[in-house]
Amino acid sequence: MQDLVTAATAARENAHAPYSNFKVGAAIRTATGRVFTGCNVENIAYPEGTCAEAGAIAAMVAAGEREISEVLVIAGGEEPVSPCGGCRQKLAEFGAPDVPVTMATISGRIATARLGELLPGAFSARHMAGDGEGE
Ligand code: THU
Repeated sequence: MQDLVTAATAARENAHAPYSNFKVGAAIRTATGRVFTGCNVENIAYPEGTCAEAGAIAAMVAAGEREISEVLVIAGGEEPVSPCGGCRQKLAEFGAPDVPVTMATISGRIATARLGELLPGAFSARHMAGDGEGE
């Protein structure tokens, strides 16, 4: 896990967060053991900004990887940073419900949860099965 802290912390340094002043770094380990990182990238058109987790997922997929085995997110607040709802769904696309997610602060506080605890009842392909409209 310490390697993920180091990787996510380094990515966080590169965050572009001039509007919130809240820098976030994320690191994802894949089933093959590779580590991908991301940081939040904000935009003057605020809704266009992207989260650290989204950046790490994009890097993972661009490298040809599809299966998340571990996630770590780190930021500078007092409370361990918690992935937003959209990022929970994005992580669930590539990670099983038992994937551990570590939420950390740069001061060393951590909280952990499984992906399935962060997003119970995730929307999945199962929910689209059996739609009879057949278009
Ligand atoms: N943010 C992330 O990058 N990841 C999270 O898990 C929580 C929030 C970013 C989005 C925005 O750039 C800033 O933090 C404040 O919401």
